[in-house]
Amino acid sequence: MKKLIGLKKIKTAVFISGKGSNLKNLIKFSIKKNSPISINLIISNTRYAKGLKYSIKYNIQKKIINFKNKKIAEKKILKFLLTKKINLICLAGFMKILSKNFIKKFKGKIINIHPSLLPKYKGLNTHKKAIENNDKFAGCSVHFVTAKLDSGKIIMQKKIKILKRDTIYSLAKKILKKEHLLYPAAINKIYN
Ligand code: GRF
Repeated sequence: MKKLIGLKKIKTAVFISGKGSNLKNLIKFSIKKNSPISINLIISNTRYAKGLKYSIKYNIQKKIINFKNKKIAEKKILKFLLTKKINLICLAGFMKILSKNFIKKFKGKIINIHPSLLPKYKGLNTHKKAIENNDKFAGCSVHFVTAKLDSGKIIMQKKIKILKRDTIYSLAKKILKKEHLLYPAAINKIYN
């Protein structure tokens, strides 16, 4: 990926579907002086995504895109990305799978945060799987997005110990805290 030149920040879009705690965290990171990114666009596939409130709070443009027809949805998104000169896409709890074609158009410029120690537990219910399998460790990963789900090159991971008393809920909470440290660190790693 292109290195940061001078003080120009990488124009970034964050894609969400839910609560948006990672979005909020990325916005806070982006407004730090030394951050390599600025967040210029929020995309959600649903108007019910709670994270959309950060669009108002931080004055960032948002677009809600209906994914009933993926081809049309992605075409619309591409148009917005080009208009806003977006150079990085951060998926943050985005629950739709992007097409091969879309990913190709933004090759090497889409990253995702996933709540497991990839390549373990791709897809959903990662915390449940880790607990049911009596794993000693769990964690989160930031990786490049490729056409194969949760399989692109890993940029960075954070690992935590699973305690005997941990439940799916407590584990999810602890890992989310780590996610908020990991996503900015992974972005710094790409651009510094
Ligand atoms: C996070 O656990 C992330 O790893 C996963 O979806 C969750 C999104 O949480 N992909 P939030 O909406 O950022 O709070």
